[in-house]
Amino acid sequence: MRYKIVAGNWKMNKTLEEGKELANAISHNLSGKIPSDQKVVLCPPFVHLLAIKEIINPVDNVFIGAQNCYSKTSGAYTGEVSAPMLQSAGIDYVIIGHSERRGYFNETNAELGEKVKMALAHDLTPIFCCGESLEIRENGTHFDYVKQQLQESIFSLTGEDFSQLVIAYEPIWAIGTGKTASTQQAQEMHQRIRNDLEVQFGKDLAGDCTILYGGSCNPGNAQELFACPDVDGGLIGGASLKADDFVAIVNSY
Ligand code: 13P
Repeated sequence: MRYKIVAGNWKMNKTLEEGKELANAISHNLSGKIPSDQKVVLCPPFVHLLAIKEIINPVDNVFIGAQNCYSKTSGAYTGEVSAPMLQSAGIDYVIIGHSERRGYFNETNAELGEKVKMALAHDLTPIFCCGESLEIRENGTHFDYVKQQLQESIFSLTGEDFSQLVIAYEPIWAIGTGKTASTQQAQEMHQRIRNDLEVQFGKDLAGDCTILYGGSCNPGNAQELFACPDVDGGLIGGASLKADDFVAIVNSY
């Protein structure tokens, strides 16, 4: 089902107290104000998940998400957190394949495909991230690059599993740089992604897929980005750390 989603990726920011304060401010401002076709997802660090979940629980259409999970269910993997653990804690979403995980932690398309399957098998909605570097954009192979990311990580899903997935297109050159993709660049890529999905999964499933944009999205540009026909919302980094900015982005619809 295609929803309008604004998700906040807090990355490795906020102490527990600061995170609770932020979640309280967001909840207070959004309570009773989110229409039923719209969802808001907060993705704090693992150790904050349960406390933040409790704060947002009473607010309709606000959900909790993790920023990662491991590709195995349990075992001797020191420091990792599994999908069944997230499921048992009542977590709704999980970001998979963020470019920072791909870059700093060498996560490959194949491994990310395993993580997506693991998340889906444990009733978590994956927010699967894709997107090209500046170098790839400048040499003009960005459409092929993103298609390959999708091909190698999610094309082997069944239609039923694919229908549960959310995709986030995040051009690396726009993340944390203040350099947003233009509405034309965002729409063009989102349309290409939807076309590639259509070839693989069919028109109905591709049409129903929620595709978010991420990369320096802020209260000043969210409205025009979200107005693009194939942009279904945003995955927000920096601006999700300030309640006023995040709420303004949610209200941009
Ligand atoms: P910024 O909004 O800070 O550019 O980060 C985007 C992002 O990486 C969200 O996952």
